[in-house]
Amino acid sequence: MKEISNQMEFEQTLARVSSADRPSLEDLVALLSVTDKSDLEKIYAFADRVRQEQMGEGILLRGIVEFSNECDGTCHYCGLNRNNARLPRFTLSREEIIESVGRVVSHNLKTVVLQSGESSKLDPALFAEVVRDVKSRFDVSVTLSVGEKSRDAYALWREAGADRYLLKIETTDEKLYAALHPGMSFGNRLRCLRDLKELGYQTGSGDLIGLPGQTPLAIARDILFFKENDFDMIGIGPFIPHGQTALAGQARGSVDMVLKAVALTRIVTKNAHLPATTALGSMGKDHRIDGLKAGANVMMPNFTPSPYRKMYEIYPDKRCVEEPVGQCAFCIEGMAKSIGRCVDYGKGDSLKKNQKEGGR
Ligand code: 5AD
Ligand code: FES
Repeated sequence: MKEISNQMEFEQTLARVSSADRPSLEDLVALLSVTDKSDLEKIYAFADRVRQEQMGEGILLRGIVEFSNECDGTCHYCGLNRNNARLPRFTLSREEIIESVGRVVSHNLKTVVLQSGESSKLDPALFAEVVRDVKSRFDVSVTLSVGEKSRDAYALWREAGADRYLLKIETTDEKLYAALHPGMSFGNRLRCLRDLKELGYQTGSGDLIGLPGQTPLAIARDILFFKENDFDMIGIGPFIPHGQTALAGQARGSVDMVLKAVALTRIVTKNAHLPATTALGSMGKDHRIDGLKAGANVMMPNFTPSPYRKMYEIYPDKRCVEEPVGQCAFCIEGMAKSIGRCVDYGKGDSLKKNQKEGGR
């Protein structure tokens, strides 16, 4: 792979990646390999300009309610994996979910994300009722994030009124994917994403940065995957090792690599919604601010009630676990102001053409 050796080449590479229909892997890898501080700042500033042109100054808020940490999965990176016997499991009742959504709405937010582990205990018909109930009570967009399910289940929830779905690819490196997800298949992941799109969900993907064995080439491929699939939303965060997983003791992802991935994803995908992820805010200093300055336009304040919030421990030292419900929304207002941006209290639908014409 080629290295960028001078300033002109650097600027030309950035310009090519920005204007190409299909940027080359070589160019993406070259930019992902940049380490010079002032060059990094230039990549982030370029992405920030694209964000400004495409998405404006508003930071969209999605209130997240983590309603269950039950999980059948054994993902090697995730603290909710079923082999983590130390984690007490919880599932909110329907009433508790409705109450939590009510708090999201009372803070003026117009999107709620209902997230859980991937569990066969989630009854598709009952969950459809919860979605229907939420949609009939509140004027709110509903995003679901409950893992790989059958097309029928996705269809049922869509009919019940769900608007959006998040299912990250985590990594497009199939070998790495197989190593990290015993018993799962990359093909089924793709099937799910296809079904979700066909059913008219605004669909979100994303990846983890810094997985053991992940190369810059793999991250470049992730970015092209996001572009080719024209996802409406793309969540990119650092891998943070969790003590009760197979990857305990491994190094965590680097902040700079996450920011480069966010920035290049913004430059390449133009108008996808990109969150400054909670994981990015959970690496010592709150690096979500840096994410917002490197192309991100979304934040996801936490509305999971206590005492459950700290039991949704996907990775350690997750931020905002002690704060009272709703505190995050206020805090984000301050963060937005501090960087000359504002909070956008709209629904924040997809700006992708397919959705503007065909979606709701
Ligand atoms: N570090 C950071 N993010 C993680 N996720 C799962 N485990 C970890 C970890 N150890 C992310 C995955 C998943 C999302 C809900 O949480 O990307 O899609
Ligand atoms: Fe949660 Fe600041 S965003 S307390």
